[in-house]
Amino acid sequence: MSKKKSESGKTSEKLTRLDIDEELRKKILPFCRLKKGEIWKDPKGKHKVGVLDATSISDTKKLFSKENAQLVINDPPYNVVVGNANTQNLSKIDIDKYIEFSRKWVSNVLSVLDEDASLYIWLGADQNDGFQPLPEFMIMMREFEDLKTRSFITMRNQRGYGTQKNWMSVRQELLFYIKGNPHFKVVYTEIPKILGGYYKEVNGKVTDNFERGKSGFIRPGNVWVDIQQVFYRMEENVPGAYAQKPLKSISRIIEASSRKNDLVADFFSHSGVTLLASEMLGRKCYAMEIDPVFAELSIRRLERYRKTGKYGWQWNNPFPEVLRMKD
Ligand SMILES: C[S@@+](CC[C@H](N)C(=O)[O-])C[C@H]1O[C@@H](n2cnc3c(N)ncnc32)[C@H](O)[C@@H]1O
Repeated sequence: MSKKKSESGKTSEKLTRLDIDEELRKKILPFCRLKKGEIWKDPKGKHKVGVLDATSISDTKKLFSKENAQLVINDPPYNVVVGNANTQNLSKIDIDKYIEFSRKWVSNVLSVLDEDASLYIWLGADQNDGFQPLPEFMIMMREFEDLKTRSFITMRNQRGYGTQKNWMSVRQELLFYIKGNPHFKVVYTEIPKILGGYYKEVNGKVTDNFERGKSGFIRPGNVWVDIQQVFYRMEENVPGAYAQKPLKSISRIIEASSRKNDLVADFFSHSGVTLLASEMLGRKCYAMEIDPVFAELSIRRLERYRKTGKYGWQWNNPFPEVLRMKD
């Protein structure tokens, strides 16, 4: 990897992106407790994390044995280059190959879904490249007749990308599918300020919808504007993770689409957000991650939460064995 490329993927975090800093990866790998094909079993008997490949059916069987998941939340690589860094974890490949990759992991998900289950998939649409891979992915999903489309959610990011000559791209797409007739519980959120301004005259006085509403809460609907994107000042920040989803978004999905003690699965664990949210909400979680560094991060994040109650490291270092933080 050229130096220039590594630099272009830099974030404002004090620990560089763990997928592109080869030197740092080499130092961290000996401290990762799992090697390819291995599975960590929670000493409390709840969760599992494996350095496994989501596209492999034997890896999938190894993790689940005969158990079925009531909810799967997957955030695969999007096939959209982020921060100009083309890395093995976040690279851009030919769309046909990407769909082939997707077809494999979706079929593995199907092999472990319970009779009544929900599947959520985060995806992107590259506005600079025919909006791939979203449309191709959606059409491919029609091959799986057991799955029904349920909702097409968009989450708003605070930071975006784009030039002065275009609309800044701030969207994250989230597809919701179901199999059978799964549980769904309506969740509520505080009314975000952005939704104010629906004016009406009441008794001669013009009021906006905040003033008229009796409750400070609304249903989030399928456009989520009330979730803060993760950045390095937040407690939930996991330094080195480059594609971290907000804990609030994953907790919302888990609360709406699963019950206590259900099995929640994530085939692309990364920062371990699904594992953490499952622990917090009393669910069991099985997670896969192809990269031993991110599998280790996921486990450490859970252990840290159990020990300190913290959701992440903010700007502290998740691998204190290998380096001191720069100031
Ligand atoms: C977009 S990130 C997931 C982000 C995660 N939802 C979070 O909030 O932290 C995708 C992750 O999938 C992993 N990955 C890529 N290919 C994989 C595969 N075939 N099997 C399992 N994990 C894979 C990458 O290493 C990366 O950590």
